[in-house]
Amino acid sequence: MNHSERQELAITSPESYWQEQAKLVAWYKAPKTILSTNSESWHEWFADGELNSCYLALDYHVEQGRGAQIALIYDSPVTGNKQKFTYSELTSLVAKFADVLKKQQVTKGDRVLIYMPMIPQAAIAMLACARLGAIHSVVFGGFAANELAVRINDAEPKVIVSASCGIEIAKVIPYKPLIDEAIEIAVHKPSCCIIYQREQIKASLIKHRDLDWQEQMDVAVEISPVAVKSTDPLYILYTSGTTGKPKGVVRDNGGHAVAMLYSMKNIYGMQAGDTFWAASDVGWVVGHSYIIYGCLMAGCTSIIYEGKPIKTPDAGAFWRVCAEYKVNALFAAPTAFRAMGKEDPDGDFLKDYDLSSLKRLYLAGERLDPTTYHWLKEKTQLPVIDHWWQTETGWAIASTPLDDGNGNMMTTKPGSAGLPVTGFNVQILDVNGHQVPTGQQGNVAIKLPLPPGCLATIYRDAPKLISGYLSTYPGYYMTGDGGYFDEEGYLFIMGRTDDVINVAGHRLSTGELEEVLSAHPAVAECAVVGINDAIKGQIPLGLVVIKNGITTSDENLIAELKQSIRADIGPIASLKDLYIIDRLPKTRSGKILRKTLRQMIDGKKVEIPSTIEDSQVIAELSSVLVNLSKV
Ligand code: COA
Ligand code: AMP
Repeated sequence: MNHSERQELAITSPESYWQEQAKLVAWYKAPKTILSTNSESWHEWFADGELNSCYLALDYHVEQGRGAQIALIYDSPVTGNKQKFTYSELTSLVAKFADVLKKQQVTKGDRVLIYMPMIPQAAIAMLACARLGAIHSVVFGGFAANELAVRINDAEPKVIVSASCGIEIAKVIPYKPLIDEAIEIAVHKPSCCIIYQREQIKASLIKHRDLDWQEQMDVAVEISPVAVKSTDPLYILYTSGTTGKPKGVVRDNGGHAVAMLYSMKNIYGMQAGDTFWAASDVGWVVGHSYIIYGCLMAGCTSIIYEGKPIKTPDAGAFWRVCAEYKVNALFAAPTAFRAMGKEDPDGDFLKDYDLSSLKRLYLAGERLDPTTYHWLKEKTQLPVIDHWWQTETGWAIASTPLDDGNGNMMTTKPGSAGLPVTGFNVQILDVNGHQVPTGQQGNVAIKLPLPPGCLATIYRDAPKLISGYLSTYPGYYMTGDGGYFDEEGYLFIMGRTDDVINVAGHRLSTGELEEVLSAHPAVAECAVVGINDAIKGQIPLGLVVIKNGITTSDENLIAELKQSIRADIGPIASLKDLYIIDRLPKTRSGKILRKTLRQMIDGKKVEIPSTIEDSQVIAELSSVLVNLSKV
C-alpha cells in the first residue's frame, strides 16, 4: 500500500485500521471496543483494553530477552557525567521508585508533579508513576515558582518529585527554593516532596514533608506494574493556550501506546535495538513521547542529554553525541540548528565525527525555515524531515512518509511539514468552515475522529475541550495553526492564528505574559506580540502604557517589568524587548489591534483603521516599532 491508499483506509475505516495497529501493543487485555464516545461526547480509543505503559516500556523488553540492551543513556556535558542503564537495570530502578511513591500512599489515579532537570531520575519518576497507574505532570525546569504553583493548584498532586538543582550553561539553578516558594503560594499542599540530591548543590529538606530520593531508594523493594484501563490517564501536560491559564492536556494509556508504537515504526522507521535521540526536554511533549514512552516502548535506546546545542562545549555537541552513541535518527528543534549554524556556518564540526549510523534528521517545535532546511541538508547530506505536531496531539500530524509504496522515502519539500500522517484528516478551512482551494492559506483543522494518542480531555475543564478546540468548526478539531496544501498534497504550516507564540521551540501565551505585566501597579495597559528572531524563531515584545502620575524612571520600570516576567513565568519567556508607549491602537470595542502591531513591527503595509484617532496612534507608534523584527 502506498501512503494515499493507507490514508484512505484509515480515514474511511478508522476502527478496522486502528484495531489492526493495536496489535503492536502487548495488552494485558486486548480491546474489543475500538472507537466509542464517552460522557463528554468525545471519542475514546480501545475503551475495554487493559495495559500498563511502564510494563510496555520496560518489563516487556526484559521478557523479550532485551534485558542487557541499553535502554537509556545519560550524557551530561554540563556536569561531565555519562551513564548507561540496561533495560533490566532501568526496570529495577523504576520498580523500586514505584515502591517509594507507594509508601507515600500514591495509588492509581493520584497525581504526582515532577519538576526535574534532564537527569535519568526524571525518566525513572515518570515511569514509576505509570507503573502504579498514577498520573504524572511534568513541569519544565525553566518555569518559575508561580507557574509551578498554578500547576500544583490544578493537578493537586499528592507528591512532588524534584532535584536539588538544574544546571544551565555555566550556572547552577537551585530548584528546591522554587519548589518551596511554589508550595507556599499554592492553595493545594502536597503531602510530600521527594528530592534527588545532586552534588552541585544539596537542598535543605523540610522535616515531616521532604524525603531524600536515595535514602528512600535504599530501602525500597521492586513492585510490579498495575493494570489500568486504556482510557485511564497516563499524564497531564500543561501547555499555553490563548488565555493566561495553562491547559492541562490529558493523555490516555491505550491510545497513546498504540500511537507511540505506530509512529516509532512508521514515522521514524525505528526498530528494537536502534538508538533514537530526541534532543528535547522531558518537560515538553516531545520528551514525553520520544525520550521516554515511544522510544522505550519500541525497544530502542534513548538518550537524556543535559546540555545545549552550543556552548556545551561547542556547536559540535549534537554531532559528538550522535557519533558516540551511534544514533540512528535525531529529532531536534530548528532553533537548535539555527544556533549551531550561526556558530559553525560551514559545518566544520561535522567533519570531526563519524555520523555513518545517522539515517535521518527530524525537526519540529516550529516551522523549519527553508534556509535552515537547505543548510542542514547540504552539510549533513541526510534526509531532513520537518514534521508538525502539538502537545495536544502527542505525535506528528504531518510528516514525510518513509514508504512511497515501493520502499522509498517520499521527497521532502523545503518549508513544508510533509503530508498528513495516516489517520489525520487535515483540511484547510475559511472563516465560514468551507474548504479553501489548493494553494490558498486558511485555518488548519482536523476532521474528527482524531486518531489514537491525541488529547483525551483538558484536566478538570472538559468544557474547554469544546470551547477551545471543537466549537469553531463542528465536527473538526481546530489546531490554531494557519497553513495551506500545495497541488501535490504537501502541507505548509505557516504559524499560529491565535495569541500563542513559539520562543525557541517553547510555546508561550502572550495573554499570560500580559497578565504579569498588567499586575505591575504602574501599568495602565499593555500588549505582548511575537516578533521574528533569527535564532529563536520568535521572541515576545512588550508594549506598555504607564498610568498618570508614576514617578519611577522608564529605565527602572522596564527593568522591574522584565524581572517580574522572569520571576512569575521563568527565564525561558525571554522578554528582552519592552517599550513604554503613550497609547495602544484599538478597535472601537476596545480590542487591541495586534495584527496591526505585528504588521508595523514586521515592516509590512499597515491596514489603516477607520477612526482618525486610531490613525494618529498608529502614526505615533510607527516611529517606535517599525522593523523591530530581528531577522
Ligand atoms: N531550567 C532553568 N532555566 C532554563 C532551563 C531549564 N531547564 N532552560 C532554559 N533556561 C533558561 C536559560 O538559562 C536562559 O536563562 P538566562 O536568560 O538567564 O540566560 C533562559 O531560560 C532562556 O533559555 P533558552 O531558551 O534555552 O535560550 P538560550 O539563549 O540559553 O539558548 C538555544 C538558545 C537555541 C540554544 C536554546 O533555546 C535551545 O537549545 N533550544 C532548543 C529548544 C528545544 O529543544 N525545544 C524543544 C522543542 S521540540
Ligand atoms: P507545542 O504544543 O509546544 O508542541 O507547540 C505546538 C505548536 O508549535 C504548533 O501548533 C505549531 O504552531 C508549532 N509547530 C510545531 N511543529 C511545527 C512544524 N513542524 N511546523 C510548523 N509549526 C510547528
